[in-house]
Amino acid sequence: MSTSGVDFSFCFFLFSKTPIPPPLLALLLVVVSFFFFFSPGGFAWAFSRGIPGPPGFVRALSGPVAHRALDKLSRSFQAVDLMAFSVGFTRFIVSSQPETAKEILSSSAFADRPIKESAYELLFHRAMGFAPFGDYWRNLRRISATYLFSPKRISASGEHRRLIGCRMVSEVQELMGSSGVVELKKVLHFGSLNNVMMSVFGKSYDFGKGEGLELEGLVREGYELLGMFNWSDHLPLLGWLDLQGVRRRCKKLVAKVNVFVGKIIGEHRNRRVGGIACGVGDFVDVLLDLEKDEKLSDADMIAVLWEMIFRGTDTVAILLEWIMTRMVLHPDIQSKAQTEIDSVVGNSRLVTDSDIAKLPYLQSIVKETLRMHPPGPLLSWARRAIHDVQVGDHVIPAGTTAMVNMWAITHDECIWSEPNEFKPERFMLEDISILGSDLRLAPFGSGRRVCPGKAMALATVHLWLAQLLQSFKWVPSEKVPDLSECLKMSLEMENPLLCRVIPRY
Ligand code: HEM
Repeated sequence: MSTSGVDFSFCFFLFSKTPIPPPLLALLLVVVSFFFFFSPGGFAWAFSRGIPGPPGFVRALSGPVAHRALDKLSRSFQAVDLMAFSVGFTRFIVSSQPETAKEILSSSAFADRPIKESAYELLFHRAMGFAPFGDYWRNLRRISATYLFSPKRISASGEHRRLIGCRMVSEVQELMGSSGVVELKKVLHFGSLNNVMMSVFGKSYDFGKGEGLELEGLVREGYELLGMFNWSDHLPLLGWLDLQGVRRRCKKLVAKVNVFVGKIIGEHRNRRVGGIACGVGDFVDVLLDLEKDEKLSDADMIAVLWEMIFRGTDTVAILLEWIMTRMVLHPDIQSKAQTEIDSVVGNSRLVTDSDIAKLPYLQSIVKETLRMHPPGPLLSWARRAIHDVQVGDHVIPAGTTAMVNMWAITHDECIWSEPNEFKPERFMLEDISILGSDLRLAPFGSGRRVCPGKAMALATVHLWLAQLLQSFKWVPSEKVPDLSECLKMSLEMENPLLCRVIPRY
């Protein structure tokens, strides 16, 4: 079995010295390919069948709502617990059921990520999210758990988070004053980018100016490349042609990122030489302080730092945009959350991190939005089997890409009553953990590759939501918010939220 997820064993008879005449051999090949193509799971499952699934090549992953298309397919093949399918030569399984999903995510066999050309070209295989399972990955997880995502770190950055929230509130007020309408996405994106930049680089930037503008451009280009469905990942022969231009664009971007992040690392080094500030405490300092065998090369450091900015920025901004859209669409729920904030905080001071634990309804709104609009409906970048492994009654060959359709699970009426209704109250009645132990709702994944930034993400989303609701009443603009989705690197709103605000004080 090959390790790339592609099974070429069917080619053996092409190369053996055979007494079969060439026309007959060609016919045999066509018949065999036809048989494999139209068998359950399609071509890539030719030699390991038994799992139900669609024949042929599934094109759903290249569409804008892959999670919905896969859900439909799983149901029509009565394969909700496990479905097999092929995309080019890549073998896939997808589970849309909590028990099987748990089995996959917690299995040590599924500890690798699939091979993705753009991630490799952008050097992300040297960062945590795409690093192969092993000592290097384990080391990165340990370092970031201790220095970036620990409860102490998260609470130490509370004041900074609050100040960025206040800045976003002023930005919203300015936009409302100048144009009578607020496009929240831009404000949230910049706030979120600055928040991560401060923890990682110890630096913040101005909205839409100078270096801030340049950074936004680099991040945007990276999102697009990583979020793109690249046919070369599944049809290796197309790889060298680079028909979608992914490799060319990645190379250009990597050169720019190297200069941008390299300069920041250089500034940190110079500060140390000048004795200005040593070990100030941002993540660059942490990486520079690593000792001997833990020490990262500059190229690895750039990959690690760049990934954090990527992963930390869009997920948080996109989730908050969905939440605020729901607030505009459900004024009764919005006003209930504001009443809760007023009763805990009053109207003489601004909300802070320490108030959040006393705001269970606000936390339920976040959970309900994660249920209805999970930023990673297919749990981001999937997993890849390191070796053959049993899932339920089936043997999954090494190299198979495994996905969990979290969106399908959170919209399954056998699991959730009225799954298409936005009802935060359901979490007031039952306290469901969203951190990975309960697969009915695991928007941050589960198992060894669970999202390491989940606590930081929730702390940020809770605080900024409380600040936005405390400051304004959110109402629709002339355009009623549209809930259409578009799956890129994360599940975005196809049409950004445009709304109006009325100051509450
Ligand atoms: C609402 C916000 C977020 C959501 C919904 C989210 C979701 C996810 C999901 C579903 C995964 C894959 C988990 C799995 O395979 O089981 C993941 C991985 C990851 N996330 Fe997050 N994430 C969020 C915020 C963040 C933040 C703020 C950071 C860091 C600043 C971050 C860093 C990462 C990294 C580095 C990985 C890869 C972990 C590994 O492969 O070992 N995430 N995230």
